[in-house]
Amino acid sequence: MLKSLLLQCRAGFEAECAAEITEHCSAIGVAGYPKFIPQAGYVVFELFADPLDVIQRVPFRSLVFVRQWCACLPLFEELPTHDRVTQLLDPIAQLPVSAELLAEVPDTTQGRELYPFAGKLASALAQQLRQKGIMLPRKARADWRMHLFVLSSQSLFIGVSPRRNGSSLDMGIRRLKFPGAAPSRSTLKLEEAWHWFIPQMEWSDRLGGGKTAVDLGAAPGGWTWQLVKQGMFVTSVDNGPMAETLMETGQVVHETQDAFYFKPAKPVDWMVCDVADKPARVTARMLEWALNGWCKEMIFNLKLPMKKRHEAVMQCLQMITDALDDAKITYRLSARHLYHDREEVTCHLDLR
Ligand SMILES: C[S@@+](CC[C@H](N)C(=O)[O-])C[C@H]1O[C@@H](n2cnc3c(N)ncnc32)[C@H](O)[C@@H]1O
Repeated sequence: MLKSLLLQCRAGFEAECAAEITEHCSAIGVAGYPKFIPQAGYVVFELFADPLDVIQRVPFRSLVFVRQWCACLPLFEELPTHDRVTQLLDPIAQLPVSAELLAEVPDTTQGRELYPFAGKLASALAQQLRQKGIMLPRKARADWRMHLFVLSSQSLFIGVSPRRNGSSLDMGIRRLKFPGAAPSRSTLKLEEAWHWFIPQMEWSDRLGGGKTAVDLGAAPGGWTWQLVKQGMFVTSVDNGPMAETLMETGQVVHETQDAFYFKPAKPVDWMVCDVADKPARVTARMLEWALNGWCKEMIFNLKLPMKKRHEAVMQCLQMITDALDDAKITYRLSARHLYHDREEVTCHLDLR
């Protein structure tokens, strides 16, 4: 009965999401085809294989544009408004057992309006599923998590994802509060990047303890603010002005230089880069830092062109992989279209 994957993404990135799932499935020898409506915020991938098997074999963290996913039952449509739940119970009983149910909607204007409704429906559904023994109590251990993805008051998808190969967050969205003292909203991108790329238990080792950092394209200082907040000593490179409050901390040196030519006097722990330029040019610059051993870890944004965004990201990642493999440098590279990213993706290169 299960034959599809449901993949959530930022509205407008359905083609990228479709291209990447097609590629990943083909890499494990599985065929399928994507179906999506542009700007809908999700893609359905019809598989010629068992979706429960596929969703365990494709590593979720290797996907860039997919925020959240599940192996789903066919769309439920025209559910009776007086009782939406009863006819869902038998099909759900065929799914692997789970102990939690995420209420989700497409991340679009129309979708977000349905979010409170989705939450209420999920509570009612979970209650009935538990009463009937189809779903485990909240605190039980289960290998799967269930998803309710609501498209309208009468149509929805239901599916499951492996707990260790998916996102525990509704819609895969990390909601962060904007810190009022930060000089720009961009600050949330770096904070979200740390949440995604660095396990929380490693934050104090990898971010704390008075580390050194370079911030390329730093002004007005949203990213520098995050580095300073972790106690780092930061060289902020930008021709534009940095926020006075940051300079007053005594932890920031402002260099009014070109980020493409700046060299650190000695290696630093972190380099971050939010310069808006061609992705290939930024990538080449990041490689120069990696090959010279100028930092241990870096986080950088690749601003994407309007067309062929998936290809552009893959080319940049390949460029890094090829050069570092040739140089016999060990590294870990990953990329993610974060919730706070718009026409860009965020990459993490770990050279430790
Ligand atoms: C998106 S903004 C950075 C925002 C910053 N991350 C923050 O959180 O406030 C991009 C910055 O890159 C800077 N920039 C662009 N090209 C640059 C270059 N070649 N050298 C130095 N800075 C550059 C711009 O002046 C701009 O301040």
